[in-house]
Amino acid sequence: MYVCLCNGITESDVREAGRAGCVMPCQLKSKFGLKQNGCCGRCAKNIHEFVEIAVQGASTSSVER
Ligand code: FES
Repeated sequence: MYVCLCNGITESDVREAGRAGCVMPCQLKSKFGLKQNGCCGRCAKNIHEFVEIAVQGASTSSVER
């Protein structure tokens, strides 16, 4: 499912970022270019959803180890 239509970012992209240790709002905004030119800002306003998904990804990777 898409979490950002402007940039075509999917839940699995965010989960993958979480697995790589990217779980803080500022890290996710920077990684995915949120709040940059051409973005509507809608997903940046709901950054907590990105954080939740990234944290799930991070916890999944620790289970797999
Ligand atoms: S939906 Fe993500 S910037 Fe527009």
